[in-house]
Amino acid sequence: MRLDRFLANLPHCSHRQARLLLASGRASVNSKIICDGTHEVRLFDRVELDGEILQAGKPARFFMLNKPVGCVSATSDRQHPTVLDLLHEPDKDQLHIAGRLDFNTTGLLIITNDGLWSRRLTQPSSQLGKTYLVETEDPIDPACVDRFAEGLYFRFENLTTLPAKLELLDSHQARLTLREGRYHQVKRMFGQFNNKVTALHRERMGPLTLDTALTPGRYRTLTAAETAQI
Ligand code: URA
Repeated sequence: MRLDRFLANLPHCSHRQARLLLASGRASVNSKIICDGTHEVRLFDRVELDGEILQAGKPARFFMLNKPVGCVSATSDRQHPTVLDLLHEPDKDQLHIAGRLDFNTTGLLIITNDGLWSRRLTQPSSQLGKTYLVETEDPIDPACVDRFAEGLYFRFENLTTLPAKLELLDSHQARLTLREGRYHQVKRMFGQFNNKVTALHRERMGPLTLDTALTPGRYRTLTAAETAQI
C-alpha cells in the first residue's frame, strides 16, 4: 500500500493530514524518513510516526496478562519490576502496553507490537467500555450510580467525565464501566465521594475479557478471533 494511504487509514487522519505529516518528515519506513506519499509500504516494513511504531515490520504479536499488584505498567523502571518482566518472549523491546494500569491495580493488560491495533483499542474516540471491579474503604453511596451516569467534573482537566455505568454488588464493592481512561479515573471518581478505592481490578476492555484461567502474573497469546474483534 502507498505510504500516504497507509497514514490516511489511521483513525482521525485525513488524506490532507497524511500529506502534511509526510511533508513535515514525521513518518519513517525502516528507520528512514520518507516524505514521498507514493512510497510502497510492504508487509514486513517497519513504519513509524513521530517515533511511534505503526507497523512493526515483524508478524504482529498480542498478549493478555493478568497484572499483579506491585508491578509497573511500563517497559522499564529503575525501582520496580515491570509487566514486561513477566513476559518470557523474544524481542520485548518491540512491545508496548495498550492502556496502562496503576501500580496496585490488577487485571487485564494488553501488550502488543501492533501500534495501529492498540490505537483502535485505546483511542478515546472509540469509547470502548473498560470494566473494573472496585472495592472501597467505606460503604458506597448509592447516589454514585446516578452521579457517575451524569458525569463528574474534573477540575484539573476542566472536563466532565463521560457517562459511566456503576453496578453496586454489595456495600463496599461495585462494577464500574468507563468509556474513557483519564489519569487515576476510578480513584478520583470515588474520591469525589470521599471514599478510598482499596482494590481495583480490570476485567474487560471492549470485547476482550480477562481469561479467568490466568492467575496474577500469568499471560497468554490472544486468539485470532480476539484480535479480529478490534
Ligand atoms: N483508574 C484508576 O484509578 N486506576 C487504574 O489503574 C485504572 C483506572
